[in-house]
Amino acid sequence: LSSYPSNIHLLPSVQTCNITNLPENYFLKYYLYHALTWPQLSFVAIVRGNKPEKYPKVVGYVLAKMEEEPTDGIQHGHITSLSVMRTHRRLGIAERLMRLSQRAMAEVFNASYVSLHVRQSNVAALRLYRDTLGFEVEKVESKYYADGEDAYAMKMDLTAMQ
Ligand code: ACO
Repeated sequence: LSSYPSNIHLLPSVQTCNITNLPENYFLKYYLYHALTWPQLSFVAIVRGNKPEKYPKVVGYVLAKMEEEPTDGIQHGHITSLSVMRTHRRLGIAERLMRLSQRAMAEVFNASYVSLHVRQSNVAALRLYRDTLGFEVEKVESKYYADGEDAYAMKMDLTAMQ
């Protein structure tokens, strides 16, 4: 696992990982904006190998930021996107990526909490956020996604880490 500053060249591979795993996709410049603005908050999981043309390969990432204009006036972080390639799931990678990002939000930016959105049908991610990490559902955001699905807006307190 490594954070972005020395790994900016991996951003296109992060984008590929996102496109492979999620319907919510972003222009490369949005990844770059995260990496340049909050380099401490985003992390990648990479596999190293001995074939330079194939490796390192990004098998997971968390793309995270600080909320720039928090409506509640409270400094907090936000998980823009998280995914792990199918070949590398259930190894604890997502949990580790999330914990690294959450810690940096609290320690570097004094974040009081971290927020995210997740599809109501996303059982795996809900288990991870609610049961493994301790997020709580704050509210339902109706038709949040482009295909009309509702989102759970979730948050987790970080004050103990500040
Ligand atoms: N079913 C049930 N529980 C699960 C599942 C699953 N398929 N996957 C993870 N969990 C829960 C379990 O409690 C697990 O602990 P355990 O393995 O000891 O039982 C815990 O989460 C930790 O799992 P990890 O191994 O850390 O999770 P993984 O690295 O496999 O990644 C993820 C989970 C990110 C949800 C992955 O399945 C994925 O990439 N899915 C597609 C993309 C996606 O849905 N991303 C989240 C969208 S929301 C957002 O981006 C803000």
